[in-house]
Amino acid sequence: MKTDHVQSSVRALTVHAPRAPLSGSLQVPGDKSISHRSLMFAALARGTTHITGLLEGEDVLRTADAMRALGADITRTGTGNWTVQGCGLDGLREPADVLDMGNSGTAARLLSGILASHGFTSVMTGDASLRGRPMKRVMDPLAATGAVFLSRQGGRLPLAIQGNANPPPLSYRLPVASAQVKSAVLLAGLNAVGETRVEEPVATRDHTENMLRHFGATVRVEPMGAGGRVITLQGRPELVARDIVVPGDPSSAAFILAVALLVPGSKVSVRGVGLNPLRTGLFTSLKEMGADLVISNERVEGGEPVGDITATAGALHGVDVPATRAPSMIDEYPVLAVVAAHAAGQSRFRGLEELRVKESDRLSATVALLEANGVKVEVVGDDMIVHGTGGAIPGGGLVQTRMDHRLAMSAIVMGLAARKPVCVDDTAFIDTSFPGFITLMNSIGAGLPA
Ligand code: S3P
Repeated sequence: MKTDHVQSSVRALTVHAPRAPLSGSLQVPGDKSISHRSLMFAALARGTTHITGLLEGEDVLRTADAMRALGADITRTGTGNWTVQGCGLDGLREPADVLDMGNSGTAARLLSGILASHGFTSVMTGDASLRGRPMKRVMDPLAATGAVFLSRQGGRLPLAIQGNANPPPLSYRLPVASAQVKSAVLLAGLNAVGETRVEEPVATRDHTENMLRHFGATVRVEPMGAGGRVITLQGRPELVARDIVVPGDPSSAAFILAVALLVPGSKVSVRGVGLNPLRTGLFTSLKEMGADLVISNERVEGGEPVGDITATAGALHGVDVPATRAPSMIDEYPVLAVVAAHAAGQSRFRGLEELRVKESDRLSATVALLEANGVKVEVVGDDMIVHGTGGAIPGGGLVQTRMDHRLAMSAIVMGLAARKPVCVDDTAFIDTSFPGFITLMNSIGAGLPA
Protein backbone atom coordinates (compact mmCIF):
# COMPACT_ATOMS: atom_id res chain seq x y z
CA MET A 1 0.00 0.00 0.00
CA LYS A 2 1.36 3.39 -0.87
CA THR A 3 2.44 5.28 2.19
CA ASP A 4 3.35 8.70 0.85
CA HIS A 5 0.34 10.61 2.01
CA VAL A 6 0.85 13.80 0.08
CA GLN A 7 -2.73 15.11 0.19
CA SER A 8 -3.93 14.93 -3.38
CA SER A 9 -4.68 18.21 -5.07
CA VAL A 10 -8.02 19.92 -4.71
CA ARG A 11 -10.89 18.03 -6.40
CA ALA A 12 -13.88 20.28 -7.00
CA LEU A 13 -17.13 18.67 -8.13
CA THR A 14 -20.46 19.85 -9.51
CA VAL A 15 -23.24 17.49 -8.52
CA HIS A 16 -26.41 17.14 -10.61
CA ALA A 17 -29.51 15.14 -9.73
CA PRO A 18 -29.42 11.69 -11.38
CA ARG A 19 -31.66 11.07 -14.41
CA ALA A 20 -33.24 7.96 -12.89
CA PRO A 21 -33.85 6.52 -9.41
CA LEU A 22 -30.87 4.92 -7.64
CA SER A 23 -30.85 1.18 -7.22
CA GLY A 24 -28.55 -1.68 -6.35
CA SER A 25 -26.80 -3.48 -3.55
CA LEU A 26 -23.30 -2.73 -2.33
CA GLN A 27 -20.83 -2.95 0.52
CA VAL A 28 -19.13 0.03 2.13
CA PRO A 29 -15.49 0.00 3.34
CA GLY A 30 -14.55 -1.19 6.81
CA ASP A 31 -15.37 0.67 10.00
CA LYS A 32 -12.88 3.46 10.66
CA SER A 33 -12.98 3.24 14.46
CA ILE A 34 -12.48 -0.52 14.45
CA SER A 35 -9.76 -0.33 11.79
CA HIS A 36 -7.61 2.11 13.79
CA ARG A 37 -8.01 0.04 16.91
CA SER A 38 -7.23 -3.25 15.19
CA LEU A 39 -3.84 -1.96 14.01
CA MET A 40 -2.96 -0.34 17.33
CA PHE A 41 -4.04 -3.19 19.57
CA ALA A 42 -2.52 -5.86 17.34
CA ALA A 43 0.77 -3.96 17.53
CA LEU A 44 0.54 -4.15 21.34
CA ALA A 45 -0.24 -7.88 21.36
CA ARG A 46 2.16 -10.80 21.13
CA GLY A 47 1.92 -12.81 17.91
CA THR A 48 0.46 -12.30 14.47
CA THR A 49 -2.98 -10.80 13.94
CA HIS A 50 -4.77 -11.17 10.61
CA ILE A 51 -7.23 -8.40 9.84
CA THR A 52 -9.84 -8.65 7.09
CA GLY A 53 -11.95 -5.78 5.83
CA LEU A 54 -9.58 -3.10 7.09
CA LEU A 55 -10.52 0.38 5.91
CA GLU A 56 -7.76 1.48 3.57
CA GLY A 57 -8.53 5.18 3.94
CA GLU A 58 -5.88 7.82 4.53
CA ASP A 59 -6.65 8.07 8.26
CA VAL A 60 -6.10 4.38 8.90
CA LEU A 61 -2.97 4.28 6.72
CA ARG A 62 -1.54 6.95 9.02
CA THR A 63 -2.14 4.69 11.98
CA ALA A 64 -0.44 1.83 10.14
CA ASP A 65 2.58 4.04 9.46
CA ALA A 66 2.73 5.22 13.07
CA MET A 67 2.60 1.68 14.46
CA ARG A 68 5.32 0.65 12.02
CA ALA A 69 7.45 3.59 13.17
CA LEU A 70 6.95 2.30 16.73
CA GLY A 71 8.25 -1.14 15.78
CA ALA A 72 5.31 -3.27 14.63
CA ASP A 73 5.68 -5.25 11.44
CA ILE A 74 2.56 -4.48 9.37
CA THR A 75 1.94 -5.94 5.92
CA ARG A 76 -0.88 -5.66 3.42
CA THR A 77 -1.56 -9.07 1.90
CA GLY A 78 -4.57 -8.18 -0.26
CA THR A 79 -7.46 -5.73 -0.45
CA GLY A 80 -8.48 -5.11 3.16
CA ASN A 81 -6.30 -7.98 4.33
CA TRP A 82 -3.48 -7.05 6.65
CA THR A 83 -1.20 -8.87 9.06
CA VAL A 84 0.36 -7.32 12.12
CA GLN A 85 3.28 -8.84 13.93
CA GLY A 86 2.84 -7.35 17.41
CA CYS A 87 5.59 -6.13 19.74
CA GLY A 88 3.92 -7.01 23.04
CA LEU A 89 2.82 -4.47 25.63
CA ASP A 90 6.24 -3.15 26.53
CA GLY A 91 7.80 -3.77 23.15
CA LEU A 92 7.26 -0.51 21.27
CA ARG A 93 10.38 1.54 20.52
CA GLU A 94 11.07 5.22 20.14
CA PRO A 95 10.10 6.44 16.66
CA ALA A 96 12.96 7.89 14.63
CA ASP A 97 10.86 10.74 13.26
CA VAL A 98 7.74 12.81 13.85
CA LEU A 99 4.50 10.78 13.68
CA ASP A 100 2.20 12.45 11.16
CA MET A 101 -1.41 11.53 11.87
CA GLY A 102 -2.79 13.42 8.86
CA ASN A 103 -6.48 14.34 9.30
CA SER A 104 -7.24 11.79 12.02
CA GLY A 105 -8.31 12.82 15.51
CA THR A 106 -8.92 9.19 16.47
CA ALA A 107 -5.38 8.19 15.52
CA ALA A 108 -3.82 11.13 17.37
CA ARG A 109 -5.87 10.79 20.55
CA LEU A 110 -5.70 7.02 20.92
CA LEU A 111 -1.99 7.02 20.19
CA SER A 112 -1.46 9.65 22.91
CA GLY A 113 -2.67 7.11 25.45
CA ILE A 114 -0.24 4.50 24.15
CA LEU A 115 2.71 6.91 23.98
CA ALA A 116 2.07 8.35 27.46
CA SER A 117 2.72 4.93 28.97
CA HIS A 118 5.91 4.05 27.09
CA GLY A 119 9.31 5.19 28.31
CA PHE A 120 10.42 7.22 25.32
CA THR A 121 9.85 10.55 23.67
CA SER A 122 7.80 11.03 20.54
CA VAL A 123 6.39 13.92 18.56
CA MET A 124 3.05 13.91 16.80
CA THR A 125 1.67 16.28 14.18
CA GLY A 126 -1.12 16.36 11.62
CA ASP A 127 -2.63 18.36 8.77
CA ALA A 128 -4.03 21.86 9.21
CA SER A 129 -7.41 20.50 10.35
CA LEU A 130 -5.94 18.18 12.98
CA ARG A 131 -3.47 20.84 14.15
CA GLY A 132 -6.50 22.99 14.97
CA ARG A 133 -8.25 20.36 17.11
CA PRO A 134 -8.12 20.15 20.91
CA MET A 135 -5.66 17.65 22.38
CA LYS A 136 -5.97 19.04 25.91
CA ARG A 137 -8.91 16.70 26.44
CA VAL A 138 -6.45 13.77 26.38
CA MET A 139 -3.41 15.61 27.76
CA ASP A 140 -5.28 16.55 30.95
CA PRO A 141 -6.15 13.01 32.11
CA LEU A 142 -2.93 11.50 30.71
CA ALA A 143 -0.75 13.99 32.63
CA ALA A 144 -1.61 11.96 35.75
CA THR A 145 0.39 9.05 34.29
CA GLY A 146 3.53 11.11 34.89
CA ALA A 147 4.00 11.63 31.14
CA VAL A 148 5.15 15.09 30.10
CA PHE A 149 3.36 16.86 27.23
CA LEU A 150 4.59 19.85 25.33
CA SER A 151 2.11 21.25 22.82
CA ARG A 152 1.39 24.44 20.97
CA GLN A 153 -0.87 26.99 22.62
CA GLY A 154 -4.32 25.73 23.54
CA GLY A 155 -3.16 22.11 23.51
CA ARG A 156 -2.74 21.91 19.73
CA LEU A 157 -0.45 19.67 17.71
CA PRO A 158 2.45 19.32 17.15
CA LEU A 159 2.74 17.62 20.48
CA ALA A 160 5.82 16.12 22.15
CA ILE A 161 5.19 13.31 24.64
CA GLN A 162 7.75 12.06 27.10
CA GLY A 163 6.15 8.86 28.27
CA ASN A 164 6.37 7.02 31.59
CA ALA A 165 6.85 3.25 31.34
CA ASN A 166 5.52 2.73 34.88
CA PRO A 167 2.38 4.83 35.03
CA PRO A 168 -0.05 4.66 37.93
CA PRO A 169 -3.57 3.47 37.01
CA LEU A 170 -5.91 6.37 36.30
CA SER A 171 -9.42 7.00 37.50
CA TYR A 172 -11.21 9.50 35.31
CA ARG A 173 -14.72 10.80 34.77
CA LEU A 174 -15.20 12.01 31.19
CA PRO A 175 -16.16 15.70 31.10
CA VAL A 176 -17.19 15.30 27.44
CA ALA A 177 -18.86 12.30 25.78
CA SER A 178 -15.84 11.10 23.82
CA ALA A 179 -14.86 7.56 22.94
CA GLN A 180 -11.45 8.88 21.94
CA VAL A 181 -10.73 10.28 25.40
CA LYS A 182 -12.09 7.14 27.07
CA SER A 183 -9.88 5.02 24.83
CA ALA A 184 -6.77 7.11 25.46
CA VAL A 185 -7.16 6.63 29.23
CA LEU A 186 -7.79 2.89 28.87
CA LEU A 187 -4.81 2.46 26.56
CA ALA A 188 -2.53 4.24 29.05
CA GLY A 189 -3.91 1.82 31.63
CA LEU A 190 -2.59 -1.20 29.74
CA ASN A 191 0.90 -0.53 31.07
CA ALA A 192 -0.20 0.43 34.61
CA VAL A 193 -0.19 -1.99 37.52
CA GLY A 194 -3.71 -2.13 38.94
CA GLU A 195 -7.13 -1.07 37.81
CA THR A 196 -7.82 1.83 35.44
CA ARG A 197 -11.30 3.24 35.78
CA VAL A 198 -13.27 5.47 33.42
CA GLU A 199 -16.72 6.85 34.17
CA GLU A 200 -18.74 8.04 31.22
CA PRO A 201 -22.00 9.85 32.06
CA VAL A 202 -23.31 8.96 28.58
CA ALA A 203 -22.24 5.72 26.88
CA THR A 204 -19.98 6.20 23.85
CA ARG A 205 -18.85 3.68 21.22
CA ASP A 206 -17.32 0.69 22.99
CA HIS A 207 -15.00 -0.73 20.32
CA THR A 208 -11.97 -0.29 22.59
CA GLU A 209 -13.55 -2.28 25.40
CA ASN A 210 -14.74 -5.02 23.01
CA MET A 211 -11.42 -5.35 21.21
CA LEU A 212 -9.26 -5.29 24.34
CA ARG A 213 -11.37 -8.18 25.62
CA HIS A 214 -10.96 -9.92 22.28
CA PHE A 215 -7.18 -9.74 22.76
CA GLY A 216 -7.45 -11.17 26.27
CA ALA A 217 -7.65 -8.17 28.61
CA THR A 218 -10.05 -8.14 31.54
CA VAL A 219 -12.47 -5.26 31.03
CA ARG A 220 -15.57 -4.78 33.18
CA VAL A 221 -18.44 -2.56 32.09
CA GLU A 222 -21.15 -1.58 34.57
CA PRO A 223 -24.13 0.72 34.14
CA MET A 224 -23.97 4.12 35.85
CA GLY A 225 -26.93 6.48 36.32
CA ALA A 226 -29.24 7.02 33.36
CA GLY A 227 -27.37 5.73 30.33
CA GLY A 228 -23.82 6.04 31.70
CA ARG A 229 -21.17 3.40 32.25
CA VAL A 230 -18.16 2.63 34.42
CA ILE A 231 -15.36 0.80 32.63
CA THR A 232 -12.54 -0.87 34.51
CA LEU A 233 -9.46 -2.39 32.96
CA GLN A 234 -7.05 -4.70 34.74
CA GLY A 235 -3.53 -3.40 33.95
CA ARG A 236 -0.62 -5.30 32.40
CA PRO A 237 -2.74 -7.94 30.67
CA GLU A 238 -1.18 -10.50 28.37
CA LEU A 239 -2.52 -9.31 25.02
CA VAL A 240 -2.46 -12.18 22.56
CA ALA A 241 -2.91 -11.83 18.79
CA ARG A 242 -6.43 -12.70 17.58
CA ASP A 243 -7.88 -12.36 14.11
CA ILE A 244 -10.21 -9.47 13.39
CA VAL A 245 -13.04 -9.06 10.90
CA VAL A 246 -13.90 -5.39 10.40
CA PRO A 247 -17.59 -4.74 9.65
CA GLY A 248 -18.78 -2.14 7.11
CA ASP A 249 -18.78 1.35 8.59
CA PRO A 250 -22.29 2.52 9.56
CA SER A 251 -21.03 6.10 9.34
CA SER A 252 -20.12 5.50 5.68
CA ALA A 253 -23.31 3.54 4.93
CA ALA A 254 -25.18 6.63 6.19
CA PHE A 255 -24.44 8.59 2.99
CA ILE A 256 -25.62 5.82 0.68
CA LEU A 257 -28.79 5.19 2.67
CA ALA A 258 -29.54 8.91 2.93
CA VAL A 259 -29.35 9.48 -0.81
CA ALA A 260 -31.53 6.41 -1.43
CA LEU A 261 -34.16 7.85 0.91
CA LEU A 262 -34.11 11.22 -0.87
CA VAL A 263 -33.98 10.51 -4.61
CA PRO A 264 -37.58 9.64 -5.57
CA GLY A 265 -38.16 6.03 -6.64
CA SER A 266 -34.80 4.77 -5.26
CA LYS A 267 -34.16 1.52 -3.44
CA VAL A 268 -30.62 0.59 -2.31
CA SER A 269 -29.21 -2.09 0.00
CA VAL A 270 -25.95 -1.87 1.91
CA ARG A 271 -24.66 -5.26 3.01
CA GLY A 272 -22.56 -6.09 6.08
CA VAL A 273 -23.04 -2.85 8.02
CA GLY A 274 -21.85 -2.70 11.64
CA LEU A 275 -24.89 -2.44 13.94
CA ASN A 276 -23.22 -1.89 17.31
CA PRO A 277 -26.04 -0.19 19.28
CA LEU A 278 -23.66 2.63 20.26
CA ARG A 279 -23.34 3.53 16.57
CA THR A 280 -26.87 3.27 15.26
CA GLY A 281 -28.51 6.49 16.48
CA LEU A 282 -28.88 7.68 12.89
CA PHE A 283 -30.97 4.66 11.90
CA THR A 284 -33.23 5.19 14.93
CA SER A 285 -33.65 8.85 14.02
CA LEU A 286 -34.37 8.11 10.35
CA LYS A 287 -37.01 5.58 11.33
CA GLU A 288 -38.59 8.20 13.59
CA MET A 289 -38.78 10.43 10.50
CA GLY A 290 -40.81 7.75 8.75
CA ALA A 291 -37.94 6.38 6.66
CA ASP A 292 -38.42 3.01 5.03
CA LEU A 293 -35.26 1.32 6.37
CA VAL A 294 -35.30 -2.44 6.68
CA ILE A 295 -32.56 -4.35 8.49
CA SER A 296 -32.15 -8.00 7.52
CA ASN A 297 -29.73 -10.89 7.81
CA GLU A 298 -28.59 -9.80 11.29
CA ARG A 299 -25.58 -11.75 12.50
CA VAL A 300 -22.46 -11.43 14.63
CA GLU A 301 -19.12 -11.14 12.79
CA GLY A 302 -15.83 -10.69 14.56
CA GLY A 303 -17.68 -9.99 17.81
CA GLU A 304 -19.73 -7.09 16.41
CA PRO A 305 -23.39 -7.19 15.30
CA VAL A 306 -23.74 -6.78 11.54
CA GLY A 307 -26.68 -6.66 9.13
CA ASP A 308 -27.87 -5.61 5.69
CA ILE A 309 -29.87 -2.39 5.41
CA THR A 310 -32.28 -1.52 2.62
CA ALA A 311 -33.48 2.04 2.16
CA THR A 312 -36.47 2.92 -0.02
CA ALA A 313 -37.29 6.52 -0.89
CA GLY A 314 -40.47 7.99 0.51
CA ALA A 315 -42.01 10.90 2.37
CA LEU A 316 -40.28 11.96 5.60
CA HIS A 317 -41.27 14.22 8.45
CA GLY A 318 -39.30 16.22 11.01
CA VAL A 319 -37.73 14.68 14.11
CA ASP A 320 -36.59 15.78 17.56
CA VAL A 321 -33.30 14.02 18.33
CA PRO A 322 -32.44 14.05 22.06
CA ALA A 323 -28.96 15.05 23.27
CA THR A 324 -28.50 11.64 24.90
CA ARG A 325 -28.53 10.05 21.44
CA ALA A 326 -25.73 12.28 20.12
CA PRO A 327 -22.79 9.99 20.97
CA SER A 328 -24.34 7.12 19.00
CA MET A 329 -24.61 9.24 15.85
CA ILE A 330 -22.07 12.01 16.39
CA ASP A 331 -20.58 11.74 12.89
CA GLU A 332 -23.95 11.57 11.16
CA TYR A 333 -25.44 15.00 11.88
CA PRO A 334 -24.32 16.70 8.64
CA VAL A 335 -26.02 14.07 6.48
CA LEU A 336 -29.03 13.89 8.79
CA ALA A 337 -29.38 17.66 8.39
CA VAL A 338 -29.50 17.17 4.60
CA VAL A 339 -32.23 14.54 5.04
CA ALA A 340 -34.13 16.81 7.46
CA ALA A 341 -34.00 19.60 4.88
CA HIS A 342 -36.21 17.42 2.64
CA ALA A 343 -38.58 16.31 5.40
CA ALA A 344 -41.91 17.97 6.06
CA GLY A 345 -41.72 20.29 9.07
CA GLN A 346 -39.11 21.21 11.59
CA SER A 347 -36.33 18.97 12.93
CA ARG A 348 -34.38 19.72 16.10
CA PHE A 349 -31.06 18.07 16.93
CA ARG A 350 -30.15 18.68 20.55
CA GLY A 351 -26.82 18.91 22.35
CA LEU A 352 -24.40 19.28 19.45
CA GLU A 353 -21.53 21.05 21.24
CA GLU A 354 -19.06 18.29 20.25
CA LEU A 355 -19.70 18.99 16.57
CA ARG A 356 -17.69 22.19 16.94
CA VAL A 357 -14.42 20.25 17.41
CA LYS A 358 -14.60 17.67 14.63
CA GLU A 359 -12.53 17.70 11.41
CA SER A 360 -14.13 21.13 10.98
CA ASP A 361 -16.57 23.10 13.12
CA ARG A 362 -19.34 20.88 11.81
CA LEU A 363 -22.09 22.88 13.43
CA SER A 364 -21.30 26.04 11.50
CA ALA A 365 -20.21 24.10 8.39
CA THR A 366 -23.53 22.21 8.28
CA VAL A 367 -25.47 25.43 8.71
CA ALA A 368 -23.49 26.95 5.82
CA LEU A 369 -24.09 23.83 3.68
CA LEU A 370 -27.85 24.10 4.16
CA GLU A 371 -28.10 27.88 3.84
CA ALA A 372 -26.05 27.93 0.64
CA ASN A 373 -28.65 25.62 -0.85
CA GLY A 374 -31.77 27.49 0.15
CA VAL A 375 -32.66 25.71 3.40
CA LYS A 376 -33.61 27.64 6.52
CA VAL A 377 -31.63 26.53 9.57
CA GLU A 378 -30.96 27.97 13.03
CA VAL A 379 -28.61 27.26 15.90
CA VAL A 380 -30.10 27.84 19.35
CA GLY A 381 -27.51 27.22 22.04
CA ASP A 382 -26.11 23.81 21.12
CA ASP A 383 -29.20 22.74 19.16
CA MET A 384 -29.67 22.83 15.41
CA ILE A 385 -33.12 23.45 13.98
CA VAL A 386 -33.69 22.58 10.33
CA HIS A 387 -36.82 23.85 8.60
CA GLY A 388 -37.68 21.07 6.18
CA THR A 389 -39.22 21.83 2.80
CA GLY A 390 -41.24 18.63 2.48
CA GLY A 391 -39.74 17.94 -0.95
CA ALA A 392 -36.71 18.59 -3.14
CA ILE A 393 -34.67 21.53 -1.88
CA PRO A 394 -33.54 24.39 -4.13
CA GLY A 395 -29.79 23.61 -4.23
CA GLY A 396 -27.61 25.75 -6.51
CA GLY A 397 -25.07 26.59 -3.79
CA LEU A 398 -21.31 26.37 -3.44
CA VAL A 399 -20.27 24.25 -0.43
CA GLN A 400 -16.99 24.84 1.40
CA THR A 401 -15.92 21.48 2.79
CA ARG A 402 -13.19 22.78 5.16
CA MET A 403 -10.90 19.68 4.93
CA ASP A 404 -13.82 17.62 6.25
CA HIS A 405 -14.66 14.33 4.50
CA ARG A 406 -18.15 14.09 5.96
CA LEU A 407 -19.03 17.59 4.86
CA ALA A 408 -17.93 16.71 1.33
CA MET A 409 -20.05 13.54 1.23
CA SER A 410 -23.05 15.33 2.75
CA ALA A 411 -22.74 18.02 0.08
CA ILE A 412 -22.77 15.34 -2.63
CA VAL A 413 -25.92 13.80 -1.12
CA MET A 414 -27.41 17.29 -1.09
CA GLY A 415 -26.59 17.80 -4.79
CA LEU A 416 -28.02 14.45 -5.87
CA ALA A 417 -31.37 15.32 -4.33
CA ALA A 418 -31.61 19.06 -5.07
CA ARG A 419 -33.38 20.89 -7.89
CA LYS A 420 -30.30 22.84 -9.04
CA PRO A 421 -26.69 21.52 -9.17
CA VAL A 422 -24.56 21.87 -6.06
CA CYS A 423 -20.86 22.79 -6.33
CA VAL A 424 -18.47 21.22 -3.85
CA ASP A 425 -15.16 23.06 -3.48
CA ASP A 426 -13.02 19.99 -2.64
CA THR A 427 -13.84 16.30 -2.41
CA ALA A 428 -10.24 15.08 -1.93
CA PHE A 429 -10.67 14.53 1.82
CA ILE A 430 -13.30 11.85 1.21
CA ASP A 431 -10.33 9.50 0.85
CA THR A 432 -9.63 9.80 4.59
CA SER A 433 -12.64 7.60 5.45
CA PHE A 434 -14.35 6.41 2.27
CA PRO A 435 -11.99 5.65 -0.61
CA GLY A 436 -14.02 4.74 -3.72
CA PHE A 437 -17.06 6.75 -2.59
CA ILE A 438 -17.71 8.30 -6.01
CA THR A 439 -17.29 4.97 -7.83
CA LEU A 440 -19.65 3.25 -5.40
CA MET A 441 -22.22 6.05 -5.75
CA ASN A 442 -22.00 5.69 -9.51
CA SER A 443 -22.55 1.92 -9.22
CA ILE A 444 -26.07 2.68 -7.98
CA GLY A 445 -26.68 5.28 -10.70
CA ALA A 446 -25.54 8.59 -9.20
CA GLY A 447 -23.85 9.69 -12.42
CA LEU A 448 -21.16 11.75 -10.67
CA PRO A 449 -18.22 12.97 -12.77
CA ALA A 450 -15.51 10.36 -12.14
C1 S3P B 1 -14.32 8.02 17.30
C2 S3P B 1 -15.01 8.75 18.22
C3 S3P B 1 -15.76 9.96 17.89
C4 S3P B 1 -16.03 10.08 16.39
C5 S3P B 1 -14.82 9.76 15.57
C6 S3P B 1 -14.34 8.35 15.86
C7 S3P B 1 -13.57 6.83 17.75
O1 S3P B 1 -15.01 11.08 18.31
O2 S3P B 1 -16.48 11.37 16.08
O3 S3P B 1 -15.10 9.87 14.19
O4 S3P B 1 -13.15 6.02 16.89
O5 S3P B 1 -13.37 6.68 18.97
P1 S3P B 1 -15.10 11.65 19.82
O6 S3P B 1 -14.49 10.69 20.73
O7 S3P B 1 -14.34 12.94 19.76
O8 S3P B 1 -16.56 11.86 20.06
